Amino acid sequence: MSIHIAAKSGEIAEAILLPGDPLRAKFIAENYLENAKEYTSVRNILGFTGNYKGKPVSVQGTGMGIPSISIYIHELFRDYGVKRAIRIGTAGAIQASLKVRDMVLAMSASSDSAVNTRRFGGHCYAPTATWNLLKTAWDVAKTKGMDVTVGNIVSEDLFYTDDPEEWKIWAKYGSLALEMETAELYTVAAKFGREALAILTISDHLVTGEITTAEERQTAFTRMMEIALETAIS
Ligand code: HPA
Repeated sequence: MSIHIAAKSGEIAEAILLPGDPLRAKFIAENYLENAKEYTSVRNILGFTGNYKGKPVSVQGTGMGIPSISIYIHELFRDYGVKRAIRIGTAGAIQASLKVRDMVLAMSASSDSAVNTRRFGGHCYAPTATWNLLKTAWDVAKTKGMDVTVGNIVSEDLFYTDDPEEWKIWAKYGSLALEMETAELYTVAAKFGREALAILTISDHLVTGEITTAEERQTAFTRMMEIALETAIS
């Protein structure tokens, strides 16, 4: 048991999927994994281990934002030996070339969070996906005939910003979308020498104001899950 995860040693697989929402973790366990067993419910952050195509895969919620995902991935890497962590989440598009429901593979993650400024003594670290996971996810998407966009995303600390135009500077420099966790996932994975990737679906659009319906989100989610699970067991 770690401070925030109730699993016993050996109960968490080396490959884990990380949605923000704990109920999404439960949904994935019930609908995509065979013989899934819950290993934690501390603070209602649910985690499960089961099999996908005969290989062990875990899935656990991370909560929202950098401080929350930071706690869970630290414990997953340090205390449970997780080797491969794949975030599956949603993001707000900041490029007109993207549409809602599109999928993004986050090659790198910029951030306005102070955590890395602090960690690196005022210097600027570049949180990056693990190449072989990124390449595998890309190959899986192409094999399945799915379109994905690869590039830089932005992990923000504030969902509700005072300046509604703030995102435009990131867009000007080519970032694709806003979310709230990936920069920390990539940084902590690097610290522990583990693999990490974020696969995101566009749920809302800051340029066009478009948002997805529940049904559209479900279709996009299913495609994202296929890529994430195949990448997890590859
Ligand atoms: N901002 C931050 N995080 C998000 C967004 C957004 O617009 N959409 C989905 N996650």
